[in-house]
Amino acid sequence: MNLENLPAAEVLTTQQSYPDTAREYIEFAINDVVMSLTKPEKLSPDQRRGIIARYTAVLEGNFIYWMTATYLSVRSSEAHAIIEDNLREEVRDNHPGMLRRFAVAARGTSTDVDRMAIERELQAVRAFVARLSTLQIVLMMAFFEGFIQKFMPYLADLAARQGSQEREYTDVHSVVDIAHTQGLLTAFASELDFADQSISISTLFEGVEVLRTLIRTIIRP
Ligand SMILES: [Fe+2]
Repeated sequence: MNLENLPAAEVLTTQQSYPDTAREYIEFAINDVVMSLTKPEKLSPDQRRGIIARYTAVLEGNFIYWMTATYLSVRSSEAHAIIEDNLREEVRDNHPGMLRRFAVAARGTSTDVDRMAIERELQAVRAFVARLSTLQIVLMMAFFEGFIQKFMPYLADLAARQGSQEREYTDVHSVVDIAHTQGLLTAFASELDFADQSISISTLFEGVEVLRTLIRTIIRP
């Protein structure tokens, strides 16, 4: 199913259907990314290292900042509470440190070349995040959490092939991010009550798409 190609009227008739549409679109986007992954056995050691390094370069310094931007953009008390819980877990359990240990153990720390490979697409996400567009950024983060969760077995496989036995990051994120995706979709539903009437389906998934483009640059061998 490609929702992008459907006229808005066929997708949405009432505001009530926005959460269902959002969930379907995000599931579609996640599956599309996961299906495009190159099988780990087909990758050279340097290609495996590159994927780990680009993933780490994107996540380590940006995830908490983008979730913070999401917190700043929402208005409902329910969404604030959900996103605050998410942020507290990230900070309290030191997820950037956990990811750093994972990358070091897999010999996948990022170089200038890795960072330049994602530069343009990363800056595009930052420019999008800077707009603090409530509904779009909440959906972007719901997609991000869902992608991360689905990506963890693959990332763990790459690391194992790189000789690493460090599994804390991938183990933790293949579990907690299921609840995080659901939480953000709940936050989206409660933010709809604060949105004006003119929600445009053509711009609702702008954040999902800008992040999906960045993720493609991470996973491309
Ligand atoms: Fe995390």
